[in-house]
Amino acid sequence: MNKQTIKGIVLKGKKVIVRVDFNVPIEKGRITDDRRISASLPTIQYVLSQGASKVVLMSHLGRPKGAGFEPEFSLKPVAARLEKLIGEEILFLDDCIGPAVKDAIVKSSQRVVLLENLRFHKEEELNAPAFAKELASLADIYVNDAFGTAHRAHASTAGITACLPSVAGFLIEKELEFLGNAVNSPKRPLSVILGGAKVSDKIELIKNLIPKADSILIGGGMAYTFLKAKGINVGNSKLEKDKVGMAGELMEQAKKAGVEFALTIDFVITQSFTSDDCKISDVIADGWESLDIGPKTREYFKKILSKAKTVVWNGPLGVFERDAYAQGTRDIAVYLASLSGVAVIIGGGDSAAAVAKFGLEDKMTHISTGGGASLEFLEGKVLPGIAALNDK
Ligand code: 3PG
Repeated sequence: MNKQTIKGIVLKGKKVIVRVDFNVPIEKGRITDDRRISASLPTIQYVLSQGASKVVLMSHLGRPKGAGFEPEFSLKPVAARLEKLIGEEILFLDDCIGPAVKDAIVKSSQRVVLLENLRFHKEEELNAPAFAKELASLADIYVNDAFGTAHRAHASTAGITACLPSVAGFLIEKELEFLGNAVNSPKRPLSVILGGAKVSDKIELIKNLIPKADSILIGGGMAYTFLKAKGINVGNSKLEKDKVGMAGELMEQAKKAGVEFALTIDFVITQSFTSDDCKISDVIADGWESLDIGPKTREYFKKILSKAKTVVWNGPLGVFERDAYAQGTRDIAVYLASLSGVAVIIGGGDSAAAVAKFGLEDKMTHISTGGGASLEFLEGKVLPGIAALNDK
């Protein structure tokens, strides 16, 4: 990485403000997945071990309106979970800027402080310089470890870097290493599995990966737009009519580049999206829709994957949240988990949730903590939160 990291900066006696991504799913006040919190621990522990006088953590949670406190977006439940994970008492403050916050940090006996949701102030997303300056005034050094938010140019990810020495934390370093190596210097063959609902979300990604990948495997809702482009009947399956032409062009580009482009060849079909009454079929007749890849597709995909030395997976292959349509995603996840000597990189968001649902997290080489951020990175875009950090 061409950016400075916490390894290259003196932290002893310093107040360090760390942008983390604690935007975790919370249902009825309970955190349902704390991976983003645990992923921040190496950086927090390292900063403490180097003798920093304070670690001030800041994050957003959800998408509040930016007009003050909203209870459902409070980071309070995160503070409690973090305390358990770190194993020491932390100080949770009910705001993120202002004299009372500054004062509380200076007077606190705890080494770790968590600020309340940055997005309770609209200035955060507006990247307002005065707000960034307020945040910066709480510390001597800025560390960005919020890979999941690195695609946002906000005050806490970009603006603040104008005010403090700014370096990357271990999570950002690790994400860039795994995702970057997977697409820029992979052990070949490189297979890319893409799924998820919409092809429109993945066009830039496919364009960027065609020159890099050896094979691209398409499942999930987005597959039907490609099948339509090949003249295959998709019944009532998810279809983006205005993207059929683009899907055809992408397949043409892949062919020219010598990339194996694999589409779903059989289906789990139903007559109603809300029904779990389904059957396996080689065709999708009118009045039916497909919600998962069928067994022949699973074997076909596995055969291609058996040659791979690197696999990047972004997007589930069916409606994995429902057992009736989870088999395709599960089967491929189990297969990837069984491979040895293969780097398996899971893009964040739904694919990460799927791998977690099947209890296979520990079996993958890397699971990104970024949803939108990993997608943008894999699209080849510059992430503003990383670009803004000090160069080496
Ligand atoms: C995410 O979950 O993708 C990040 O935390 C960013 O959240 P946002 O899309 O609300 O900016």
